[in-house]
Parts: sequence; structure tokens; C-alpha cells
Amino acid sequence: MALIAILPGDGIGPEVTAEARRVLEAVGCGARFEEALVGGAAYLETGMPLPPDTLALAKRADAILFGAVGAPQYDTLERAFRPEAAILGLRKELGLFANLRPSKLFAGLEGASALRPEIARDIDLVIVRELTGDVYFGEKGRKLNDAGHRLGFDIMAYDEAEIARIARVGFETARTRSRRLVSVDKANVLESSQLWRDVVNEVSADYRDVALSHMYVDNAAMQLVRNPGQFDVVVTGNLFGDILSDQASMCAGSIGMLPSASLGEGSRGLYEPIHGSAPDIAGQGKANPCAAILSAAMLLRHSLDDVPNAERIEAAVARALASGVRTADLGGSCSTREMGDTVLRHLA
Ligand code: NAD
Ligand code: IPM
Ligand code: MN
Repeated sequence: MALIAILPGDGIGPEVTAEARRVLEAVGCGARFEEALVGGAAYLETGMPLPPDTLALAKRADAILFGAVGAPQYDTLERAFRPEAAILGLRKELGLFANLRPSKLFAGLEGASALRPEIARDIDLVIVRELTGDVYFGEKGRKLNDAGHRLGFDIMAYDEAEIARIARVGFETARTRSRRLVSVDKANVLESSQLWRDVVNEVSADYRDVALSHMYVDNAAMQLVRNPGQFDVVVTGNLFGDILSDQASMCAGSIGMLPSASLGEGSRGLYEPIHGSAPDIAGQGKANPCAAILSAAMLLRHSLDDVPNAERIEAAVARALASGVRTADLGGSCSTREMGDTVLRHLA
């Protein structure tokens, strides 16, 4: 029997993962669940954001459903003790280098998008974000410079093997869709980006059937709101992918709608909404659980090889939204639980 580790975390993390778990239980996916502390919640209990027991559970599990971590109260801790160190540590420890972040407008949400409906309607893309390299994992620190000023630094670096393997995920993903891939970088200024572009071009020799183009990240941010329909699959680095995916979420209606899958070499993956712990609404039952529920669908598809139930969940979310039930971020007034109930009712 497959094991799903549930790591709810902080803020709205527990609220949204509870709904995703109910949906997984309702579809009868035949898995068992084990929960563990992570992030600030784990720090308070054990002094560590990613306790050894939690990491061991994640390694033992076939898939991990993750909520969110972080809260302002931890922002002055030494970096290794901050909640965010837990999710970064899980990604690194489990070798989850490829993060798929699909963004699609569900019918009926045109009015919730920050874009005009006729522009928003066309958004249906996947951002393939590199997840274990870049400025996130380069050397970082503080020192005094020659002028005696405090200086903070984070090294942005990619090696060719890291670039080639994420490029392959980008090309493979494009092959499952419309065979168009846009690689986003800042090669006009950054040397790590020039290497990125060179290596993506080299890898493209193995994917002649995929139309590859390159775009600078500043232009990509602009194009994403000008005409998101032009994108199908976007492959990009860790930092650019983080930023562009939050932006893509508002094109599709709300950050509460976007799921993600973090994958490595094997079938084990970590699944989480792209949003954070939302301290401003935590504990109020206002959070949109759809991103977490759709993450559960991705979990079934990518780690449990259960495509029928993944599609059932996605269709149920679509029907629930089409019925007019909405959380506050989408302009409605229903609670997290009511949204979860509505999705459960629409499971065929
Ligand atoms: P955030 O995504 O938590 O919130 C940004 C805004 O979006 C807030 O106004 C919030 O209320 C809203 N929002 C987010 N998710 C929502 C949902 N499901 N339904 C309705 N509204 C939602 O980003 P932030 O405020 O920049 O960060 C808060 C904390 O979360 C920080 O500590 C940050 O480090 C952390 N964070 C964690 C993750 C993660 O665990 N993977 C991701 C992003 C941010
Ligand atoms: C995300 C988050 C994380 C990231 C943080 C919490 C480390 O913003 O998953 O998008 O930057 O990757
Ligand atoms: Mn982010």
C-alpha cells in the first residue's frame, strides 16, 4: 500500500492540506497517510524546522503532500532555523530538481483574473522551474566591504549538468503538450544565464520536434500579462520560476488556485500549492484549498500512477467552481471547508 506523507506546516498550510487529504480519502486511492510536523510548527516543538523524523518519513513515503511554511515571528531566526529551510532542505535532500507549476484559467474565473477576461481566457501553460540550484543554493553570507559597509551576497550559479537535466524535463513536458518550449533567462547580463542558454540549445539537438525559443525574464514578465496565451511550456531557473509562477497565478484568478509537483529521478515527488502560509488570513477558514486539492491530483498522476483519479479530482474542482462556489480570493464568501465540501460533492 502506497504511503503518502502529509506535512501541513504553518499558517493556512494545515487548513488547505486537510481538504486535500479529505479529497484523496474520498477518491479511494488506496494509500495510507502519515502526518508530521514541519516548518515553524516543528521548530516550536523540536527546535528544528525539518526534524530527522520528518525527513525520514519523507524519504520512506511514495509521495509527500506539503502545505506551506513560514510566519513573521520566525523571520529574525538564523537562516538554518527558519521554517523556509525545511522546504528547501526537503527539495535538496530528496533531489527534487524539477518543479512543474501549471497555470490554467478554470471556466467561470475570468472575472477573478487580474487581466481582462478576453486575455485571461487563453492562459494554459506550465512553468518548469529548476528547484535545487541557482542563487537559492549558492554561497551566501555577510561581510564588511572595503568601505566598511555591511555587504550581503548570494552567488547565482548553474553547472551544465543541472541545466541539461531541467532542459530535458522542459522538452519532455513540451512533447506531452503542443511541442513549444520557451526558455527564460537573463543571458544579456548574467553569465549563469548565458551558460543556461548555450546548454538548452545543445540539448535541443535531441528534441528537433520541439520548437524552442528564448526570452529574457523581464520581457517574459511583461508578455505574461500582455498575452499569456502565447506560452505553452516555459523552462527557467529557480528564482525566475518562483517569481513568474506567482505572477501567472493572478493571471489565472488567484494564487490559491495553483498547484505544483516537485520531481526528481524516481517516482517519489513532493506536491504543494505554490502559495505560502498566508499569515494575514491564517486560522480564519478563508483560504482557498483548490491549489492544495489540485496538488493532490498531481500527486496521484505523477507518483501513484493513478491518472483516472487525478482527472476525477480536477474535473470536480472545475465543476465546483462552475457551480459558482468561491472563496474570498476569487470574490466569493465560502469557507475553506465549504469549498472542500463542494469539491467532494462534485467527485463523479
Ligand atoms: P503567501 O503566498 O503566503 O501570501 C500572499 C498573499 O496571497 C496573501 O495576501 C495571502 O493571504 C494570499 N493567499 C495565499 N494563499 C492563499 C490561498 N490559498 N487562499 C487565499 N489567499 C491566499 O506569500 P507571502 O505573504 O509572501 O509569504 C508568507 C509566508 O509564507 C512567508 O513566511 C514565506 O516565506 C512563506 N512561503 C512559503 C511557501 C512554501 O511553504 N512553499 C511559499 C511561499 C511563501
Ligand atoms: C515557493 C516559495 C519558496 C521558494 C520559499 C518559501 C522558500 O516561495 O515554493 O514558491 O522560494 O521556492
Ligand atoms: Mn514562491
